[in-house]
Amino acid sequence: MSQALQKIELCKTSDVAEGTAIQVETNDLILAVFNLNGAFYVLDDTCSHGPGSLSEGPICGDVVECDFHNGSFNIKTGEVVEPPCIIPQKTYKVVVADDTVFIEV
Ligand code: FES
Repeated sequence: MSQALQKIELCKTSDVAEGTAIQVETNDLILAVFNLNGAFYVLDDTCSHGPGSLSEGPICGDVVECDFHNGSFNIKTGEVVEPPCIIPQKTYKVVVADDTVFIEV
């Protein structure tokens, strides 16, 4: 039996300007919410390689660079783009409803 998904509200769509990210802390999670051309993507904010905060990193296209050791990840998939990161960044299923961004966990 699979458990029902829990929907967690993160922010309003207007809180995240296009081409930027914000950090959201909720339900024991620290998340980075990205807006790429009006589509929203959510990753764990804390870099899989160390203490870097991905919501603070520069964004270039679909890629965010960690500002701690300059590794980078694909924002849409969490895959590593540039080392020294090795472990993909955890991604979350995003739902946007009534101008509000949610994740399902
Ligand atoms: S902490 Fe992010 S690349 Fe090392």
